[in-house]
Amino acid sequence: MRHAKPSTIYLKDYRAPDYLVDNTHLHFELKPKATLVKSRLKIRRNPAAGEGLPPLFLDGVDLILLSIAIDGALLSPEHYEKMPQGILVSVDKPEFFLDIQTCINPEDNTTLEGLYLSNGMYCTQCEAEGFRRITFYPDRPDIMSKFTTTIVAPKEYPVLLSNGNEISRGPCEGDHHYVTWEDPFSKPAYLFALVAGNLQYLEDCFITASGRKVKLQLFTEEKNINKGDHALRSLKNAMRWDEAVYGREYDLDIFMIVAVDHFNMGAMENKGLNIFNSACVLASPETATDATFQRIESIVGHEYFHNWSGNRVTCRDWFQLSLKEGFTVFRDAEFSADMNSRAVKRIEDVSLLRTNQFAEDAGPMAHPVRPDSYMEISNFYTLTVYEKGAEVVRMIHTLLGPRGFRKGSDLYFERHDGCAVTCEDFVRAMEDASQIDLVQFRRWYSQAGTPQLTVTDYFDETLGTYVLTVRQSCPPTPGQREKRPFHIPLKLGLLDKNGNELVLDGQGTTQCVLEITEAEQSFEFTELSEKPLPSLLRDFSAPVKIDYPYSIDQLLFLMSNDSDTFNRWDASQRLAFLALSDLQQAYRTGGVLQLQPELIAAYRSVLLNRDLEPALVAELLQLPSEQSIAEASVHIDAEAIVAAREFALQTLAEALFGEFRAQYTALNVRKSFSLSAKDIAERKLKNTCLLYLCATETADALALAQEQFDTANNMTDKAAALSVLINHAGDKQAIAAIEQFYQCWKEDAQVVELWLGQQSRSSRRGNLSAVEKLIQHPAFDLKNPNRVRAVIGGFAKGNFSQFHRSDGSGFEFLADQVITLDKLNPQIAAQQVIPITRWKRYTGDLARKMKIALKKIMDSGDLSGDLYEVVSKSLN
Ligand code: ARG
Ligand code: ZN
Repeated sequence: MRHAKPSTIYLKDYRAPDYLVDNTHLHFELKPKATLVKSRLKIRRNPAAGEGLPPLFLDGVDLILLSIAIDGALLSPEHYEKMPQGILVSVDKPEFFLDIQTCINPEDNTTLEGLYLSNGMYCTQCEAEGFRRITFYPDRPDIMSKFTTTIVAPKEYPVLLSNGNEISRGPCEGDHHYVTWEDPFSKPAYLFALVAGNLQYLEDCFITASGRKVKLQLFTEEKNINKGDHALRSLKNAMRWDEAVYGREYDLDIFMIVAVDHFNMGAMENKGLNIFNSACVLASPETATDATFQRIESIVGHEYFHNWSGNRVTCRDWFQLSLKEGFTVFRDAEFSADMNSRAVKRIEDVSLLRTNQFAEDAGPMAHPVRPDSYMEISNFYTLTVYEKGAEVVRMIHTLLGPRGFRKGSDLYFERHDGCAVTCEDFVRAMEDASQIDLVQFRRWYSQAGTPQLTVTDYFDETLGTYVLTVRQSCPPTPGQREKRPFHIPLKLGLLDKNGNELVLDGQGTTQCVLEITEAEQSFEFTELSEKPLPSLLRDFSAPVKIDYPYSIDQLLFLMSNDSDTFNRWDASQRLAFLALSDLQQAYRTGGVLQLQPELIAAYRSVLLNRDLEPALVAELLQLPSEQSIAEASVHIDAEAIVAAREFALQTLAEALFGEFRAQYTALNVRKSFSLSAKDIAERKLKNTCLLYLCATETADALALAQEQFDTANNMTDKAAALSVLINHAGDKQAIAAIEQFYQCWKEDAQVVELWLGQQSRSSRRGNLSAVEKLIQHPAFDLKNPNRVRAVIGGFAKGNFSQFHRSDGSGFEFLADQVITLDKLNPQIAAQQVIPITRWKRYTGDLARKMKIALKKIMDSGDLSGDLYEVVSKSLN
């Protein structure tokens, strides 16, 4: 199972499969430590793969092979060869039935891939390569098969689920029963799913545009059954939305969602049977924050949308992962934008991209949206494949326009329905439907790294012409030294001195998309009477960094006048970045830290402006996170970043205490809970004010937090109050709140995870010792990824100041945890180690200490392939 040095797989080595599997019959007899899996595969030689009858390779990991037969005749060992990752079977006919029996151990399966037990319930996770942990099979996405599945289990497991439609059920000998499911759609093995347990369900139905009735069911453990309404409502909204926006209907008579507590990722789009991490599907106002409600809506949408973008049309190989993930993230982002505030959704997504995806692009694991090699595909479920992939699809949408894009997606689904295809097929459908040339655009799929645009301008007063010059470059990434120019849609507008939009052509257009294709290019705007102020990269029209020498006054002007909401927010961020960089500089040189009065005045006017929507006010008031400041720095000086941000926060909090207080009071009115965009925005603004107020650590402010903590009628307000108490109250008050909260919620897994995460992220000095205690707390469990993400991830990825303490204790702690974790769950270990892999960007001593921690992991013995890939690439 463990290999010191896994081999590298290359896209250029892709070959069509030698054999196809037309039908897959599976029969499970479930037992915790010895589940019997019988499979019968109808196999035939792939006519597209050449002559002769080569041996058939079947993937298999951690399986006990009981028997193997071709057309009913048992094979003796000389007819197949056992290999480390599967078996090679000799074949002497072009078509045959292959019968295999294997035994697996779900109870001891802590990898959470394949079949495993979570709180006594059986469930599966097969993407990307989990099916090979269930039975020997050609486990690759370009082999699509019709599945029939029979599950036999004791009657204490009343619910037995798999993909498709239930076709029969009945009693078996002993106190067992069985259910048989048949999925009429061909699918790759990674979309297979099985669930068995003592589950309750909520039921609803959906009538499709063409009038078919679809049964919707959501399964959970009994104690969570009151937390499923929001997911079901989101599901119906998603089904309606996909019909309206993409013309896509659901295709089976039943759609099931199951919540499980132990899950490596957010959720999985198995055909007709989506399996969700409990944290991404269960919610009630008392237990879930607004952010959680919105995350659930987007993930329920995401998995549902995969039914077309992923299942009906799937990936030929895993290098094409972004074909389904990038496209589906784009779809779910647009769905969320339509359901809530479009501007806020865009701001949140861009923040995530800039803070975390840009860091990936600049780190040792940087890879193109379509990677060309990997050791472990699990390491490539990344922000680059998902989020940057979605930005690439968004740029196609921008270049083609909404109608061209819809024609392209219609053509893509029509051409490739039922097939396993490539990113190239997607782009070609977009091109063919719109007649727009995307030849150069394809480089977005093959070149890694974040392009940098540098914009300069020149105004000729006598001619009235304005010239914008755009230069593009892209830094080297592992294996790619030189980059060729990208095709970049640059959306912009020009503002006059009164803040009005200038007309850019004869038709009265005030916004345009420049297509940047060269390393350097100039664009001319004529008939202007004054030098305009450019509003560049509106709505973040491309995933690039853009530099223009804006003055503070110009940024303040854009912040209050730009018609593009996204760019108003972006101007506020640029202002904050300028100020924070001055503060860092002062801190490093031992100078006096000072915040410009203009900046304070700008925040004041945002707070006092009654014409601005609360949602935008809340966004404009956010200081960039330490992590995003780090990402924007060439050399990361963690201590200076922490000091600078802390100073800015304190200064704003003190200077505007009265304004924050007034705004807080105005919004702090008791009303019944609703999830309307307006109420969500008001809660966010109110809690932003509370955070600034409590940053002063005055008794007055902390009393407000305590009051909110004691009386809140929803988790958003409660959790916000708890967080500021943990971070800013005195020890006694903080500990009391922590304890009281736990006593109230210790039976609720999702709330306990929130509680763990808040403590781990606390910026109190020396918080590492509190984190070390949390690891010992009964609520912590190294086998539960949500708990690991809350405590270890909360600390390493969400607690910039304490994790980066200069003694390196944070890194050593992470290394030790990762080493232990790797023995249980390699995927999660490889995810958690990421923060120290970016050591090269840090200044002096921190870089050295991160590297020591990495070496400690490397030298700790046999690493999983997952962890080995990440650690070895970062030590290179
Ligand atoms: N396809 C799932 C999604 O919707 C993610 C599954 C990831 N699985 C994994 N082993 N990394 O995004
Ligand atoms: Zn997905």
